[in-house]
Amino acid sequence: MSAEDRSRLLGAAVDRVLGDALREVAARIAEGSVADYIPELADADPEAFGVSIASVLGRAYGAGDADAPFTIQSASKPFVYAFACEELGAEAVHEHVGVEPSGEPFNAISLDERGRPENPFINAGAIVTTSLVPADDADDRFRRIRDALSRFAGRELDLDDEVYRSEAATGHRNRALAGLALAAGSLATDDVDAATDPYFRQCALRVTTADLAVMGATLANGGVNPITRDRVVGERAARNTLSVMATCGMYDRSGDWAFRVGMPAKSGVGGGIVAVRPGEFGVGVYAPPLDEAGNSVRGVAMLEALSDRFGLHMF
Ligand code: DON
Repeated sequence: MSAEDRSRLLGAAVDRVLGDALREVAARIAEGSVADYIPELADADPEAFGVSIASVLGRAYGAGDADAPFTIQSASKPFVYAFACEELGAEAVHEHVGVEPSGEPFNAISLDERGRPENPFINAGAIVTTSLVPADDADDRFRRIRDALSRFAGRELDLDDEVYRSEAATGHRNRALAGLALAAGSLATDDVDAATDPYFRQCALRVTTADLAVMGATLANGGVNPITRDRVVGERAARNTLSVMATCGMYDRSGDWAFRVGMPAKSGVGGGIVAVRPGEFGVGVYAPPLDEAGNSVRGVAMLEALSDRFGLHMF
């Protein structure tokens, strides 16, 4: 059999497994509820369900609503953290934010004994991380973040203006978290809006599961996008990011996730999850209804099924 035939057969097998897993997990449609604390997110289609895998060899597979757009929300956080580590070095970043799992919800009001948010994935830590991206002002900061995330995805990501405005109009708790970080000395700007405005916009960038899979595959591949061959961040920044995803990516469910799925990952309240098998794959899933921790119910179930079926559990 030629290498090309083998690769086609393998591709068909992956598509079949993705399709089977999708049908099996789809039965859990009634569980969880779509986020509505950002009013615009309440309009998401609760039935939408898609999955994509991208390998470090540049192959891509998908099933269901693999190409349906949704806002990236907290799944942006690892990529902004990677970018900040690349720009400033991890040591400088960790003057401002820690790497300990908080064991608390994503929007918790808490700082460690040094006045830093516990990790870059809870909202407080993500806003601090965004504030660290060197820029002239809020617009410039968002432009740099969007460029970086677009390079991770290998295509220009666009903003969902309605979701951005909806969060900007209601995100008082995030502004309060930024104010608290400013008072504690961990925010890198003395203008709260110069941190929260680009943060709200980074969360409202539109992606598909295919994008999340490629973004994850770029981390899996040591910082080089396997489709465009663009080196987006260095190996150390990619490794740092996967380490924090492994310990803090699913908030107060990170332990259960490591036990059941065994891959670095990050969820978002838009219903997306990006997971990574280092050295091999990135996976993106999308299903809007969330559990109480803010993680997609069918997304978690799908990744557990894929972890079992493809032997992706790392431990
Ligand atoms: O800051 C917020 O609340 C949202 N823009 C993002 C939160 C989020 O996605 C939490 N993850 N599951």
